Amino acid sequence: MTHQKIRKKFKDFFEKRNHKWVESSSLLPTDPSVLFTTAGMQQFKPYYTGEADAMKDFGSLNTVSIQKSMRTSDIDEVGDESHLTFFEMLGNFSFGGYWKEASITWAYEFITKELGLKVDYVSVFSGSEGMPADEESELIWKEIAKNNNVAIEVKKMGIEDNTWGPTGNEGPCGPTTEIYVDGVEIWNIVFNEFYYKGNREQMLKETDPSKFKHLKPAGIDTGMGLERLAMVVQGVKNIFETDLLEPIIKLAPSELDIRAKRIIADHSRAIAFLITDGVRPSNKEQGYVLRRLMRRVITYFYTATQSTPPVDKRLAKSFIHRSDLSLMHDIFAKILEIYGQYYPELNADLIIHEFDREKEKFEKTLSQGLKELGKMPSVNAENAFKLYESYGLPFEVIKELGKEKTTELSRENFDEEFRKHQEISRAGAEKKFGGHGMITEGDLTAANAEEMKKKTRLHTATHLLHAALRKILGEEVKQQGSDITPERLRFDFTFPRKLTLEELKQVEDMVNDAVKKELPVTKTEMSYEDAIKSGALAFFKEKYPDRVTVYTIGPKTTDNSINGSTDKAVEPFNRELSNSTSSGQFFSKELCGGPHVSNTAEIGKFKITKEESVSAGIRRIRATVE
Ligand code: ALA
Repeated sequence: MTHQKIRKKFKDFFEKRNHKWVESSSLLPTDPSVLFTTAGMQQFKPYYTGEADAMKDFGSLNTVSIQKSMRTSDIDEVGDESHLTFFEMLGNFSFGGYWKEASITWAYEFITKELGLKVDYVSVFSGSEGMPADEESELIWKEIAKNNNVAIEVKKMGIEDNTWGPTGNEGPCGPTTEIYVDGVEIWNIVFNEFYYKGNREQMLKETDPSKFKHLKPAGIDTGMGLERLAMVVQGVKNIFETDLLEPIIKLAPSELDIRAKRIIADHSRAIAFLITDGVRPSNKEQGYVLRRLMRRVITYFYTATQSTPPVDKRLAKSFIHRSDLSLMHDIFAKILEIYGQYYPELNADLIIHEFDREKEKFEKTLSQGLKELGKMPSVNAENAFKLYESYGLPFEVIKELGKEKTTELSRENFDEEFRKHQEISRAGAEKKFGGHGMITEGDLTAANAEEMKKKTRLHTATHLLHAALRKILGEEVKQQGSDITPERLRFDFTFPRKLTLEELKQVEDMVNDAVKKELPVTKTEMSYEDAIKSGALAFFKEKYPDRVTVYTIGPKTTDNSINGSTDKAVEPFNRELSNSTSSGQFFSKELCGGPHVSNTAEIGKFKITKEESVSAGIRRIRATVE
């Protein structure tokens, strides 16, 4: 049974049972206290707590999804037979629609009847001081065994194994029942009965039952890893032999051992999906994870070509070609072949562009870094961090290539060193700005007030440019980056071809028209959800807080409050220039940290000075204001 078939069966099964299909959410959650989406329930958190209404949003109290997920806690285990960073999770959810009996009965039916598998055993929660044992699930399983005339062993497990949640700083949590097939846990059914104000670590130690507030109604959250399920359904020995990963493994350099090949297969999927969801390699948070994944893959390719130089000249040529990472492009193409149908947002050009850019950066220092590593008699956290800082070698690479020299080096110590350094550099930056009179306002930093003013005008002009590009070229224009100096703005965006002179003129004219119209720029604060609903653009979906600031340019209003009326009449507004939304017409609306001018008239004359390609599918515009 192919993964395509498994996906379809799961979706159909629950749709038939009154579940509304919901597309996977991004790998970057809206909850700022978690780095990545780690489970299917995350996008539904507000429905469990009653903050959102499932009936209103889905027309059903039950949903079903296949969620792309990312867990970094197991990163050191990747390469064995069962661990992954990126994976997909099949899940059915309910926010008051059904409870334990239905969820367990359906799970059993799906596993045995739809997939033809046999349940080895199941586990239920044995209870802790704070949370009661789940006797109801135990009885349900016994009943199922009796009705189906089979023996199902019910194991009782403790709070570490058979509870779930909360994700982030607080949230829904509760006991679980887990289903094992061929010795592996394949389905986790969570009963979100409680709300706990604390993180999981605190929850595990909680002895006070009154700290577990009953959720009404209690919710169902289930999760079944697609790769593991495919492994038992397809009868293969490990997840890397399934049709989700085997085709990728086959493309890894043949010189590498199986562990390295598996790491490449896992990491390249994670890289492709992270880039697609807007992460870019950097030294912090999600970007730091992406950078480490990329650099580990790049190092494997590099070492594969260094260790066994072929004697034959012709072979050497193809060898060098491979070291060029063209194989990596093939791998990304394969990932698109496997996943493109389910995740149409995957963009091969963008993934390859970002990967190659990181490779170029890293290759400048990689061989030197490896030489330095070679010279070190032993590696502790401090000099490992130096290798990262000076040559960009990530922890995993140092550990792997440093071999027995690194026995003293642990991830905890390295992370500690990393944190220490971040604090020092933050303090340093503040001192530097303070000492040299640098000023920071919102997203901008400038040497003095005058420079700040100039940069602020360019900043608002960037928003106008962005909006004008989308109005003229269409919504495929998506911001990729922006940089402002006192002299000019630079704006990168997705678009498949060179802009014509005519188009550039139209864009420039539209921006100048918005300047002439003297549009007000307003700043509002709202929840991230409301901001997106109101049509605000947010492309750098990094880590938005619960409340975000939104800058809206236009529409023009006439204040009539002078004659006692507080009504604001909206002046007839050039339709071509404006977006129509329920909240009125605006020229531009974006999530942004500011600062901005208060009226577009302050910007002055806008001029595009250059349009060029950054890479396949990405264009760059430079512009000035006078
Ligand atoms: N949220 C549960 C899990 O991820 C289903 O295991």
